[in-house]
Amino acid sequence: MDFRVLTIFPDLFVPFWNHGMIRRAIDQGRITAAAIDIRDHADGRHRVTDDRPYGGGSGMVMKPEPLSRAISKAKEQVPEAVTVLLSPRGRVFDQQAARELATVGGLILVCGRYEGVDERICRTSIDLEVSVGDYVLTGGEIAAMIVIDAVVRLLPGVLGGADSAQKDSFSEDLLEHGHYTRPAEYMGEAVPEVLLSGHHGEIENWRREMSLVQTVLKRPDLLESRPLDRRAIQVLKKWGRTIERIVDAQDRGCADPSSGDESKG
Ligand code: ADE
Repeated sequence: MDFRVLTIFPDLFVPFWNHGMIRRAIDQGRITAAAIDIRDHADGRHRVTDDRPYGGGSGMVMKPEPLSRAISKAKEQVPEAVTVLLSPRGRVFDQQAARELATVGGLILVCGRYEGVDERICRTSIDLEVSVGDYVLTGGEIAAMIVIDAVVRLLPGVLGGADSAQKDSFSEDLLEHGHYTRPAEYMGEAVPEVLLSGHHGEIENWRREMSLVQTVLKRPDLLESRPLDRRAIQVLKKWGRTIERIVDAQDRGCADPSSGDESKG
């Protein structure tokens, strides 16, 4: 898969291309990645890429001509690419969006700066606007890195283990269970015994159960919006009953200060 990032800060991407999984994917020939400097496509000695907004107001707007030329250049290099503008008004990026983008031949990622890009560029040259969350960054560069990172790890052959991308958080739309490594005991806390048992079936069951528990505790909204299989429902019922038992026992044992005060009048 081919990535081209359009930015006025191409140097930000040098360390990004040169570390970890992205570096490996480039070295293995699974992806190509390059930043295109929008300034190289601007006019004049000062190579200006922004201008004041029509209608007044604070902030600057990215000019259409340099962006349009930079996009054309990227499209020459990767004709089959989808052109994405990183913008807080775009579709919120999640694992499903990452899965969808991982199926296309290439991505041209356009990083806005300042107040945004001239609206005519959005209409004529952008296939999709993507936001990495409901907050406003000073530019799209970090957002582009997030998108590239999440997409590259889904590409066939990129992650070490054949199925690690399939198994971990959110690909099943559940959170991950906890992970443990040596030592078997750390600061008085032992690794769950089942993980030392060598019993693969039981380990898998434990992991599934703990994924569900993590999700119920930290992101219950993820469970509300997805169908659960019979096993998952059984696990949740079991934990629900345990929690109810604990709460009931505490409730019976605890003196309610408000009712106590009332009885005394
Ligand atoms: N640029 C500024 N804020 C952004 C966001 N939340 N997502 C993507 N690009 C952005």
